[in-house]
Amino acid sequence: MKKVVLAYSGGLDTSCAIRWLKDKGFEVICFVADLGQGEDFQKIEERGLAAGASKVYVKDLRDEFIKDFIIPALKANAIYEGKYLLATALGRPLIAKYLVEVAHKEKAEYIAHGCTGKGNDQVRLEVTATILDPKLKVIAPLREWEFKSREEEIEYAQMHNIPIEVTKKKPYSIDRNLWGVSIEAGILEDLDKEPPEDAYLITKAPTGLSSYPKYIEVAFEKGVPVKVDGKKMKLQPLIALLNEIGGAYGVGRYDLIENRLVGIKSREIYEAPAATILYIAHKELESLVLDRETAHYKEILSLKYAELIYYGLWYSPLKEALDSFMEVTQKNVTGSIKLKLFKGSCVAVARKSPYSLYKKELSTYSKEDTFDHRLADGFIKIWAMPFKGQER
Ligand code: ARG
Repeated sequence: MKKVVLAYSGGLDTSCAIRWLKDKGFEVICFVADLGQGEDFQKIEERGLAAGASKVYVKDLRDEFIKDFIIPALKANAIYEGKYLLATALGRPLIAKYLVEVAHKEKAEYIAHGCTGKGNDQVRLEVTATILDPKLKVIAPLREWEFKSREEEIEYAQMHNIPIEVTKKKPYSIDRNLWGVSIEAGILEDLDKEPPEDAYLITKAPTGLSSYPKYIEVAFEKGVPVKVDGKKMKLQPLIALLNEIGGAYGVGRYDLIENRLVGIKSREIYEAPAATILYIAHKELESLVLDRETAHYKEILSLKYAELIYYGLWYSPLKEALDSFMEVTQKNVTGSIKLKLFKGSCVAVARKSPYSLYKKELSTYSKEDTFDHRLADGFIKIWAMPFKGQER
């Protein structure tokens, strides 16, 4: 019998996909990735088996997700179109990596996923799988099957005794992991309307929050966050804590009209409290310790790095080369940043580092000034020389 490994979430689409693939003559093995979406994995496993899977693998990938995906993205200051800290996009290559691994273990020739033909995620999963094992074949039931609506799908599920959650139609499509939440569809498709409060999962509405700011201090070692308020923490609890604090202060909400890889513009709401705090703090520390040329050049490469993540090219030669560049820039990114959280905003207010390139005796306007002002004269003359007497 042909075997397929399906990326399974426990939701309606992938549950129906199990049955649909079985009807096409496949033995279906499910793979469930725990990326910190906070679901009941026992229940998901049971549901997969009840829907007809022969086996359900559940794997806790949270530490690997943080170490090998989130941290490199943080070191690179990766942000897509100025607002998206890439939670969903970063998770896909990791899921694909394990689909391939399980396929090898199970000697399956096929992998499958529950993405539609309009999104970025199908591209990310399939490109990654192709890079890691070009011989594997991919099936995307949602691109092929005959259901025209969610109602038809529910009918199919009921007809085949596929256990689904009998809640009323979910108003949004949500993807969540420990780095953030992506929310789209429903009323959010009307661009002239402000997203309703019920669209947000992990952040409080900034209006009506405490009129007192909250200060937190984040310490980094070589670009990696290591402490919050002086307390050493492992990355998983550190991120969880910042999500909690940031969320309570309404930090990390974004409303983005984004350019998808497949040429469509779409609107997505993002929540990323911890990612926002860490991104801001990390950039602030770099301002202190990176020289001008490296800092400016890095900005250009950050943009490219974010695009590569968004485009599903995590395992590409360019991304690997950029990682080497980013790693070199992190050598002195050690120190701490104090941030002020207030009604949805997050700003760095104080900073220190043993590698700080700031020299107060040079920048000061007080009598402590040691800068030799006379040197400026020659510098400016030479700087302007190429432009002297040029036609205008
Ligand atoms: N637009 C985001 C991306 O392409 C998130 C996609 C998934 N969003 C969702 N609500 N299911 O990375």
